[in-house]
Amino acid sequence: MTQFSKLFEPIHLGPTRIKNRIFNPPHGTTLSSQGKVTDDLVAYHEARARGGVGLIVIEGMTFHHTYDYKGAFLYAGDDAVISGLSKLHQACTAHDVPVFGQLFHAGRAVRLSHDGSKSLAYSASSVADERYRTVPVAMPNDMVWEIIDGYAQAARRLAEAGLDGVEILCSLGYLISQFLNPHTNRRDDEFGGCFENRLKFLREILNSVRATLGAEKTLGIRISLSEFTGNAMSPEEMLKICQVIEQDGMVDYYSVITGSSATPEGWVRVFPPMAIEPGFVAGDSARLKQAVSKPVLVAGRINQPQLAEQILADGSADMIGMARALIADPDLPGKAKSGQVDDIRACIGCNQACVGHRLAHHPISCIQNPVSGRERELGVPKSIRTARKVMVVGGGPGGMKAAFVAATRGHTVTLFEKNKQLGGQAILAQALPGRAEFGGVITNLKRELEIADVNTVLGTEVTLDQIKTVAPDVVIIASGASAGLPEVEVEGAHMVDSWSLIRGEVNVGSRVVIADWACDWSGLGLAEKLARDGCQVRLMVGGIVAGESIQGIVRDHWIGELHKLNVEIIPYARFAGADSDTAYFQHMTSGEPIICEAVDTIVTCFAPKSENLLLSELGEFGGEVLVIGDAVAPRTVEEAVLEGFRAANNV
Ligand SMILES: Cc1cc2nc3c(=O)[nH]c(=O)nc-3n(C[C@H](O)[C@H](O)[C@H](O)COP(=O)(O)OP(=O)(O)OC[C@H]3O[C@@H](n4cnc5c(N)ncnc54)[C@H](O)[C@@H]3O)c2cc1C
Ligand SMILES: Cc1cc2nc3c(=O)[nH]c(=O)nc-3n(C[C@H](O)[C@H](O)[C@H](O)COP(=O)(O)O)c2cc1C
Ligand code: SF4
Repeated sequence: MTQFSKLFEPIHLGPTRIKNRIFNPPHGTTLSSQGKVTDDLVAYHEARARGGVGLIVIEGMTFHHTYDYKGAFLYAGDDAVISGLSKLHQACTAHDVPVFGQLFHAGRAVRLSHDGSKSLAYSASSVADERYRTVPVAMPNDMVWEIIDGYAQAARRLAEAGLDGVEILCSLGYLISQFLNPHTNRRDDEFGGCFENRLKFLREILNSVRATLGAEKTLGIRISLSEFTGNAMSPEEMLKICQVIEQDGMVDYYSVITGSSATPEGWVRVFPPMAIEPGFVAGDSARLKQAVSKPVLVAGRINQPQLAEQILADGSADMIGMARALIADPDLPGKAKSGQVDDIRACIGCNQACVGHRLAHHPISCIQNPVSGRERELGVPKSIRTARKVMVVGGGPGGMKAAFVAATRGHTVTLFEKNKQLGGQAILAQALPGRAEFGGVITNLKRELEIADVNTVLGTEVTLDQIKTVAPDVVIIASGASAGLPEVEVEGAHMVDSWSLIRGEVNVGSRVVIADWACDWSGLGLAEKLARDGCQVRLMVGGIVAGESIQGIVRDHWIGELHKLNVEIIPYARFAGADSDTAYFQHMTSGEPIICEAVDTIVTCFAPKSENLLLSELGEFGGEVLVIGDAVAPRTVEEAVLEGFRAANNV
């Protein structure tokens, strides 16, 4: 008997029976190739099916030459997609998990190119897009009909592949939203003007897709009630649209998200980072549930079964989507069902290896779970012939993951950490404003150490003598990094480094300049902290935009917060030196000076230094030595954890 009784109730979406209420929402993986399913994509979804999810909705597929970027998307516009989809479907249904496919067309929201030249974008009307900076071509009437038929043909291919249902993406500011919204639809044919005409595109799509699918397959739509974007449709208008669609009787479910691709603030809500409250979308799904009778699905920062159960128990939705939660831990449903809730590796909303990779055109993964997207390489731990004695030096993210993996494979592992606490730099990372959830990395890794029964020794700095005493077969050096300082002349200035400030070891005055070489979380976070503490803050960015090195959605949201706090942000500012109350910068392209006067304190966010002195002494040690993470070169948790995993998987 599970503690999550609602979560594990079966449900029907149209003709499809689903064994529980957790679904894997559509998400682009960049695991396809040339528009087709690969073995990597099959393995990715099979891992989630095996982990106990009820339903998988595959990533948005394109289907028409006006938006056909096969390098990034599955392409349902020709029959070549069918066999791969069929393989994927069989791999999931073997675990009693039905599979739907999502169809989408981005309209004017075109970022990609076929050959580097700027692609033509098509939309309902020629209304410029703020985020993609495209001026689209208004679709001629016959092209609109061609696209409606394109949806039906693509749906036919999905059905031929055996998929159990089709979802039409009607939101996020993409093509269908562009037809629905009077701001982007200024047509004067039968698809523009009054409410009915603007709705006609969607209704024709649903009619033709339903005619293709018949009654045996499920048909759903994905919509946003709240787009968090100027010129958006209001929630009331979206509710009215859903009610009309409901009367037409074509769809079996509604899937609710928020946000839009049309503006930066709308985009933040599509992939809500940790700064946004978990489960914030449930209010919207609850409203829709009041307005329609068919099941309502919801997704958006629902990363734990307790919250999912609560949303179902409140009657705010009928199914719970977990995209990133299942990227972080595909086994979440099974663990929830069997009561192993503490073993769930909860997603922390960092957006780094999932959204970050996707938007940079790389296969998705997770900073906490490098197996995600690499199921065929790392999914099955390598077996060992003889157990070895493994000593891990450093209890940061890299060392903890390495210790877990080596122990899981059957080696005898001891992890040494010189501090009294595990976590390494993640302890500092979680102390920045709005970043407490980053501490989840530590919680999750600690739990893994417990599960694998790793012997952990805290408060012990490893030396060569100690290594000789322990006499391991393998030493994994995961000793991380320490704060770095700028190599500039500073006379009489009060200058402090970011790490000391986060640790509360130093004080600052009321007029602070942050010299931000790193352009990462530290500069943004300390600017926020100091501004909230009442300081006047100037963030001098050694790059083209504050937070240039971090994932764009996290950065954009943070810059908005700094704007509200009146933090002055000056880009292209190379730190050149300081004296008692002045900080000197150089513009990074003009070479001209930028002078900050009346400065009490300069906070530096500079290149950390790898801590690997021990390495140079290990010549005398006869065993195997591996170095991982920031000890190799300072980077992020993602590389530390991945390198820890790979190193431990090979010892
Ligand atoms: C303020 C801040 C915010 C950050 N935010 C993010 C973020 O949002 N996302 C992200 O991905 N990355 C972030 N980072 C970077 C990230 O935390 C590091 O890249 C990551 O922690 C590196 O992991 P690691 O295990 O290699 O090393 P570390 O985390 O540095 O851990 C090394 C550990 O080894 C221990 N150690 C060193 N020498 C010895 C010895 N001789 N014996 C025993 N123990 C020893 C240290 O005490 C330390 O605990 C942030 C860093 C900082 C400072
Ligand atoms: C890498 C990635 C790609 C996504 N691609 C799509 C997509 O193709 N279609 C879509 O409707 N939503 C897409 N989404 C949005 C998710 O379906 C989901 O609504 C969002 O991630 C919020 O849910 P979560 O907090 O459970 O991750 C994507 C999300 C991620 C993380
Ligand atoms: S990379 Fe971060 S946001 Fe993405 S799934 Fe992993 S923990 Fe969640």
